[in-house]
Amino acid sequence: MLIDYYSGKKILITAGPTYEKIDPVRFIGNYSTGKMGYAIAEELANLGADVHLVSGPVHIQTQNPKIKLYKVESALEMLEICTNLFADCDVAIMAAAVADYRPESFETNKIKKSSDDLVLKLLKNPDILATLGTIKKQGQFLIGFALETNNEINNAKEKLLRKNADAIVLNSLNDPGAGFSHQTNKITIILQKDVIFEYPLKDKKLVAKDIITCISENLKN
Ligand code: C5P
Repeated sequence: MLIDYYSGKKILITAGPTYEKIDPVRFIGNYSTGKMGYAIAEELANLGADVHLVSGPVHIQTQNPKIKLYKVESALEMLEICTNLFADCDVAIMAAAVADYRPESFETNKIKKSSDDLVLKLLKNPDILATLGTIKKQGQFLIGFALETNNEINNAKEKLLRKNADAIVLNSLNDPGAGFSHQTNKITIILQKDVIFEYPLKDKKLVAKDIITCISENLKN
């Protein structure tokens, strides 16, 4: 039973995009809405889990008093909260679309359009999922997401190994209705040892149920 598996478990979830500040009015971001991560958080809270949701800037809200919400903006802020929370978590589900790069410097004044071109130097952000993968202890489970456009299964398998995750939820940009900004998603879940589950296109609330059912049935101590 799902409730037996999740009741009382401490679960970390990341959701939404990160915004990487350029100056006081501009940032680098992406189109993630946070719907997938929020849907997972709602399902798990309703099953009695102790849910900690670390969210980038999104337009959706949770009314669920059982979800502990940590609002962040940048990848570095998300990393700090996640590493603190993960230490005594049972499961972490990393659904956020973390920006891969951030501007090297933050301009305290608005950048003026004086020259014809502008060069921004970007630095690579830390990989939060991979960082948690390096500190993961026996009995903790780590689930990542992957949004791929080509060679999807192999890329997702490579991510699973490289980031020391226990499962990767793959959404392909080639599937109509899947990925960012849609209310629906079409996923494939890849577990270690080449176990692969494919699911049809569904509402993100039902996709959330499939993900948490797959975790509870396959990732056991
Ligand atoms: O490598 P890629 O960005 O495709 O990996 C996606 C997975 O890694 C997602 O679970 C995402 O939340 C996580 N990730 C992260 N920190 C990053 C980049 C991705 O946690 N800097």
